[in-house]
Amino acid sequence: MSEELEELGYPVVRVAPAGVFAKGSVNDCMRLNLQLRMGLRVLWKIADFEAMDGQQLYKQAVRIPWEAYVPADGYVSIGSSVRNDTIRNTKFAGLRLKDALVDRIREKKGRRPDTGNDSDKAKLFLYWRDEEVNIYLDTSGVPLSNRGYRVSPGKAPMRENLAAAVLKAARWHPGLSLVNPMCGSGTLSIEAAIQASGRPAGRLRENFGFMHLVGYRPEEFEAIKMELDMGKALVASAPIIATDQDPEAIEAARRNAELAGVADLIEFEVCDFRQTKVPDDPGVVILNPEYGDRMGEEKKLLPVYQAIGDFFKKQCPGYWGYVFTGNRSLGKRIGLKTTRKIEFYNGPIECRLFEYELYSGSRNPR
Ligand SMILES: C[S@@+](CC[C@H](N)C(=O)[O-])C[C@H]1O[C@@H](n2cnc3c(N)ncnc32)[C@H](O)[C@@H]1O
Repeated sequence: MSEELEELGYPVVRVAPAGVFAKGSVNDCMRLNLQLRMGLRVLWKIADFEAMDGQQLYKQAVRIPWEAYVPADGYVSIGSSVRNDTIRNTKFAGLRLKDALVDRIREKKGRRPDTGNDSDKAKLFLYWRDEEVNIYLDTSGVPLSNRGYRVSPGKAPMRENLAAAVLKAARWHPGLSLVNPMCGSGTLSIEAAIQASGRPAGRLRENFGFMHLVGYRPEEFEAIKMELDMGKALVASAPIIATDQDPEAIEAARRNAELAGVADLIEFEVCDFRQTKVPDDPGVVILNPEYGDRMGEEKKLLPVYQAIGDFFKKQCPGYWGYVFTGNRSLGKRIGLKTTRKIEFYNGPIECRLFEYELYSGSRNPR
């Protein structure tokens, strides 16, 4: 995340376990919501203070000028992460914060916003550790992984921000061939094609949390969108190939790519992964096979993982090969020497991206 933020021109001021901090304006917030590929949400800090219990939280939070952030006739939801000895129930903390906001706005404006669990309107985030409370506006609302192109999820799809992080870890960049057998709903190749087209990741989304806050100016957001879209080359300079043995998966991937506006940049084909056409120009080949989370499935998947090793060795000389899996013991059965094993979390599942340098006689230049 730090690297992505720095690349976008925002010096990182602090790194925390679940996020990175940078300074910026409201317009920077809008810009980041459009541009971030790996992040899930852009939070804007509005208050920090100390509180030991729910009562103290209320007392401090009712002083926040909520009427300057949340419209009295709007709707707001609250997300939270709480670790505090006196508060066992995260929901209770969120409720106290909600009470403070509602009471304050009612007092100042004569009416109160609606509240609930829908995250597609104004949203807050409460982060409370011991006595330290931080309150943020969640300017993203629905997480940024929801880019708006996935109408057909297919089986076990990867989240879009995870796919972007895998491409980054695999050191793929526009201009390098990408071969993605077992593409499923096409997330990896679609994310790559969006990058190759130079478009911001969130360009398709029509809704963000910031649009529901006091003072939102649509014309400023339109201007940012125009600026980010300008001068982009809408052609991939190297092939992006996505295949799957399941015709329905390819159908879904093609539909998603069409919605994302990048179908012309991806070559789709229905075939077994071993029949995937691998261009001569070296690049990156990434597979995300099934993990097998039920008993007996692992045994069935073993020959598939072994065949991936053969495919890499025989059909992908000069490439960098990657396998993303939540099953480390199957990953080890690929039978080739890994050059890196990169740790990821797919929700609660600990996963690995295994990297292989596939020699073509001489060492692979990259
Ligand atoms: C875990 S899913 C991939 C999900 C994908 N990353 C996405 O984001 O949607 C694994 C895919 O591998 C495909 N598959 C399994 N065995 C295959 C084989 N022998 N050849 C080609 N595709 C295969 C399945 O049809 C399935 O779509």
